[in-house]
Amino acid sequence: MSALTVITRAGEEQTVEGKCGVSVMEIIRSNGFGDLLALCSGSCSCATCHVYVGPEFYDALPAMREDENELLDASSHRTANSRLSCQIAFSDILDGLRVTIAPED
Ligand code: FES
Repeated sequence: MSALTVITRAGEEQTVEGKCGVSVMEIIRSNGFGDLLALCSGSCSCATCHVYVGPEFYDALPAMREDENELLDASSHRTANSRLSCQIAFSDILDGLRVTIAPED
């Protein structure tokens, strides 16, 4: 089983099963984390799936597209480890990935 650890805004940490080919956003939502709204359902137009990725995995992530970059630029909570979780397809190389749900804008 591949593992994805999610840290909520309240600081609670839970490890769930990571499914290859499924977006990190979908994995988080399907495991009942209400903090992550994902209002556009993954079409990269809302930024309500903003997460902070553990730095040890940042370079292993799929490259950021310009539309994702622009949406993150509009967030007042962007950091060097920010990504939109709907744009990260989980894969075996991300086994052990840790993501923290970013504060709401
Ligand atoms: S779910 Fe809307 S940008 Fe990711």
